[in-house]
Amino acid sequence: MDKQTAQSRIQALHEQLNQYNYEYYVLDNPSVPDSEYDRLMQELIQIEEAFPELKSADSPSQRVGGQVLDAFQKVEHRIPMLSLGNAFNEQDLRDFDRRVKQVVGENVQYTVELKIDGLAVSLRYENGVFVQGATRGDGTTGEDITENLKTIRSIPLRLKKDVTLEVRGEAFMPKKSFEALNEERSKLNEEPFANPRNAAAGSLRQLDPKIAAKRNLDIFVYSIADIGETGVTSHSEGLQLLDELGFKTNKERRLCQSIDEVISLLDEFVQRRPELPYEIDGLVIKVDQLNQQEELGYTAKSPRWAIAYKFPAEEVVTKLVDIELTVGRTGVLTPTAILEPVRVAGTTVKRASLHNEDLIREKDIKIGDTVVIKKAGDIIPEVVNVLVEKRTGDERDFHMPKECPECGSELVRIEGEVALRCVNPKCPAQIREGLIHFVSRNAMNIDGLGERVITQLFNHQLIDDVADLYKLERGQLLNLERMGEKSTDNLLNAIERSKENSLERLIFGLGIRHVGEKAAKTLAEQFETMDRLQQATKEDLVAINEIGEKMADSIVTYFANDEVSEVIQELKDLGLNMAYKGVKREESLSDSYFSGKTIVLTGKYESMSRNEAKAQIEALGGKVTGSVSAKTDLVIAGEAAGSKLTKAQELNIEVWDEARMLQEFQS
Ligand code: IVH
Repeated sequence: MDKQTAQSRIQALHEQLNQYNYEYYVLDNPSVPDSEYDRLMQELIQIEEAFPELKSADSPSQRVGGQVLDAFQKVEHRIPMLSLGNAFNEQDLRDFDRRVKQVVGENVQYTVELKIDGLAVSLRYENGVFVQGATRGDGTTGEDITENLKTIRSIPLRLKKDVTLEVRGEAFMPKKSFEALNEERSKLNEEPFANPRNAAAGSLRQLDPKIAAKRNLDIFVYSIADIGETGVTSHSEGLQLLDELGFKTNKERRLCQSIDEVISLLDEFVQRRPELPYEIDGLVIKVDQLNQQEELGYTAKSPRWAIAYKFPAEEVVTKLVDIELTVGRTGVLTPTAILEPVRVAGTTVKRASLHNEDLIREKDIKIGDTVVIKKAGDIIPEVVNVLVEKRTGDERDFHMPKECPECGSELVRIEGEVALRCVNPKCPAQIREGLIHFVSRNAMNIDGLGERVITQLFNHQLIDDVADLYKLERGQLLNLERMGEKSTDNLLNAIERSKENSLERLIFGLGIRHVGEKAAKTLAEQFETMDRLQQATKEDLVAINEIGEKMADSIVTYFANDEVSEVIQELKDLGLNMAYKGVKREESLSDSYFSGKTIVLTGKYESMSRNEAKAQIEALGGKVTGSVSAKTDLVIAGEAAGSKLTKAQELNIEVWDEARMLQEFQS
C-alpha cells in the first residue's frame, strides 16, 4: 500500500468507526455486530503501524489507551468551572424561584436534569477535533486528563461539525461496570471502591490510560461553556445542539413552566433512582432562557440561575437476621447487625454496626426485625429504625453475653463506659485485630495486607504476633486462598518496604493504649529511637507537652512487659528501622514558608493524601489543625473543598491550591 492509498483508507476507516462508535455508545443502537467494528479497528491499527506519520490525535485507535504519563499537566480553565448551591427540600426550591423572579420577572422556565454522581470534566474541541480534556480541580485550574478521556467511547473524538467550543459534563461509571470492577478487585485482593463516583475519579486519575480504557466509563455532557458564541437562546436549545454535534446528553431532562411543576417531579425521580443504570444524587434545576441567566449572574462560587436539589439519603427496608459480636483490638465488644443483603446508595449492604447495647435498647431492635437502613454520609450503613408494625411475634431479644465469644473469658464493664470489654491479652480476636491495625494505612502501611489476608494468615497459624509478619515465606503465602504469584510478590515487597518506615509508624502500629497517631509522632520526634522510648520514665513522658498522665502510665506499663520487649527485639533483629526519620521541630525552623505557621488542609488532593501532606508540612515546621479560625495562616484547598474554604475566604485568609503546596515542598 502506498502512502496515498493509506491516507485515504485511514480517512474512510475513521469515518466508519466514528459512526459505529456513535451508534453504539451515544445512541445505544448499534447497526453492525461488534466483530465488524473490531475488524475495522484492527485494520486501522495495522495501517497506522505501517505509516506512523499518518496516525492523528483524533484517530479512533487512541481509545485503547496510549502512552503512560509521568504526571498530569495543569490546565487553566478559560471559563471557570463553578459549583452549584444546594436545595434540600421543597421550601429551598421555592426560595430559589422567588430569588430568580425578583430579578427576571414572572415569566421563567426551568430545565430539570438529573444530577449525575461522577466527576465534572471539561472538553475542548478545535475545528471539530477533541484537543483537551480536564478535571475541575479548584474550579480555576484543573488537570489535563485528555488521554484518559479519549478512552471513554461516548466522548466524540471528532464532532459532526467543525466547530471550536468547550463543553462540560459529568464522567461516571455505570452501576454494572462498578459492580464488575469491585468483584474483580476483591478477587485480586485489592480494596474495593466505596462507590461509583470514587471509582470513576480513581480511574481518570491513572497515569496509564490503558487502565482507564478498561474501566467502562461513560459521560453525560450537560452544558456548553462558551454558549454565548453559539447563537442559541436557551439552555434547552444548547442541549439539542450538543446532541446534533454528536455528544451524549441525558435524555431524562424536562422543561418546566413553573416551580410547582419542578416540585411535582421530585418524587418521580426519587422513585426511579434505584432503577437507573447510573448513580444520581439529585436534580439540577436551571433557568432556561440565556438572557435571564445573564441577568441573574453569579456569586463567587456558583451561578444564581441554577440550583442542585439533593435527594434525602436513600433508605431501604430489609431484615435484620442476626446480631454478631466482634471483639476489637482493645477488647471492646461491638454488636453488628447482619442484614439480608440489600442495595443502597450504590453498593450492597450486608452489615451495619450497632455500636453498643444501649443503642440496641434505644432503637428497640430485636433479631428478626424488619428495619430501615441508610448510609450515613452515603458511606457508612446504619439502622435508622425498626418497623414495629411488621413484627410477627417470632422476633427475639438480644442480650450481651457474659463471656467473650472468642476466648470465653469473663467480660467486664469499665466504669463510666457503655462498652463491655474482654480483658484477656491472649484473646485471639484482639491479637488478630492488633495485627490488622499494625499493617493499616496510617500505621505500617503494608499494601495488600488487609483484614482478609491477615485473618487467613492468623487462622493458618502463620502469624501470632507482628514479628511473624516479617518471617513469612513465599511458599506459605502461595498456599493461601486467592493468592497468586503476582500478589504474593507484591505483598512480600510491601512487607520488606515497611521495614524502612520512620519510627512513628511503628509506635502507632504497636497499638499502645491511648497512643494515637499524633502522640506516636510526638514520641518519635522527642525520643528519636525505640531504645530511648523504651527506657523513658513516667517523668520523662509527662514532661512532654502533649503527653498526659494516663498516656504516660500506659506507655510505661506497655514497655515494662517482657513479651513486648521480646517482640521489639525480634523486630530489630529482623531489620526494622527503629529511628525517627522526620525533621525535629526545633531544627526545622528553616526558611520553609510553613515554618511556624498554622495551616488547615481541606478537600481532596490528587497527588497525595491529606495525611501525607500533613506529614510533609509538619516536617517543615508547620502546624496542621482541623478548623479554620482567625489564628489560621493558610488554607490549602484541594478538589471539592467545602465550608472550610468558604470560611477562609470570609476571614480573608490566604488560600493555596495543591500545585502551590507542591511547589513549596520542592523548594
Ligand atoms: S450544571 C455552574 N448539570 O454537580 C455549574 N452539574 O455542584 C454547572 N453535575 O460540579 C453545573 N450533573 O459536576 C450540572 N446535569 C448537571 C449535573 C451537574 C452533575 C455536577 C457537576 C457540578 C456539580 C454541582
